Amino acid sequence: MNRKKILVTGGAGFIGGNFVQYMVNKYPNYDIYNLDLLTYAGDLTKHREIENKDNYHFVKADIADREAIMSLFEKEKFNYVAHFAAESHVDRSITEPEIFVETNVLGTQVLLNAAKEIGVTKFVHVSTDEVYGELDFNPTTFFTEETPLQPNSPYSASKASSDFLVRAYHETFGLPVNITRCSNNYGPFHFPEKLIPLTISRVLNEEKVPVYGDGKNIRDWLHVLDHCAAIDLVLHEGVNGEVYNVGGHNERTNLEVVKTIINTLGKSEDLIEFVADRLGHDKRYAIDPTKLEKLGWNPTYTFETGIAQTIQWYLDNKWWWEQIISGEYQNYFKRQYLFN
Ligand code: NAD
Ligand code: TYD
Repeated sequence: MNRKKILVTGGAGFIGGNFVQYMVNKYPNYDIYNLDLLTYAGDLTKHREIENKDNYHFVKADIADREAIMSLFEKEKFNYVAHFAAESHVDRSITEPEIFVETNVLGTQVLLNAAKEIGVTKFVHVSTDEVYGELDFNPTTFFTEETPLQPNSPYSASKASSDFLVRAYHETFGLPVNITRCSNNYGPFHFPEKLIPLTISRVLNEEKVPVYGDGKNIRDWLHVLDHCAAIDLVLHEGVNGEVYNVGGHNERTNLEVVKTIINTLGKSEDLIEFVADRLGHDKRYAIDPTKLEKLGWNPTYTFETGIAQTIQWYLDNKWWWEQIISGEYQNYFKRQYLFN
């Protein structure tokens, strides 16, 4: 196997972090470069078990820093880019939308340009089903790759904007790109501001769990490792210029998700607290993954097996999420990388 260099942006975050570990372990002959700014969502403690491996490298940088990104690409001449780095939380995009434009739109353009200049083999842009907007509650409707983009939140609008730039770099410059649009992920190392890890950590601490509105909004849940396998496949086999939706037909209302967690942990549903709805709260997301299945991908987790594995992981790894909630994780980079 040829030695390849893969740049993973956002590899200190939830999905990028799982992807970095997956790739470092699966491809000992690939060099995996984790590039991350270490915002509040970036955490390197999750990589304690791989950080000393020869094929793992960490670079602290801002994807929107044109000079830093260009000189890194010129130096390392990456073969592949898997672009995860983003501001990813819808609620934050409602209160501070500017950073979503800077990181998600401008940052993506900076990376595309650097990839074009050095001529990468593949640029995979990790996007989201939220760019399609919302579906109604008719269970026979799904997002396909042909569904028009109608983003409703500043987060999804910034991701849709970046999708258009990725498309433009393919159409205009012939950059070999793919765009993946995945449904909601869950699994190990999920930052506890998002519904599933927030619920697990709050229930374990006997704290109230806020459910927005009536709890009937539907999300289509996919285990993060199934998403990682999808990105790996698209990176190696995706047809240039194509979009691939990623999802495993696991639609659940938010209330069903929260109750499943509470019941699995043997706690009382009195912990549920209905709170004011999110502004512009999308009703329902649901993915048609047929195109990716034809490329050779199938999920390995159902929602039942995946949520059970995830709850067990949070029980076994309190060390991780407790230091995330306390903020202690932010000292790890200084200790490991600056003071050694
Ligand atoms: P996350 O918020 O957990 O991680 C984002 C990472 O990007 C963090 O490590 C952060 O430090 C880094 N980052 C932010 N700004 C940066 C910058 N300017 N330069 C370099 N690094 C920066 O996000 P996530 O949930 O892992 O999502 C990863 C990607 O997957 C995002 O692009 C998101 O849109 C997409 N996605 C997420 C989901 C989901 O359910 N979480 C679903 C589909 C798609
Ligand atoms: P979230 O995990 O923020 O993902 P996204 O907004 O990208 O889908 O939210 C998932 C769903 O859960 C969404 O419908 C909003 C809802 N939600 C709550 O009801 N309570 C909460 O505390 C959070 C964070 C989300």
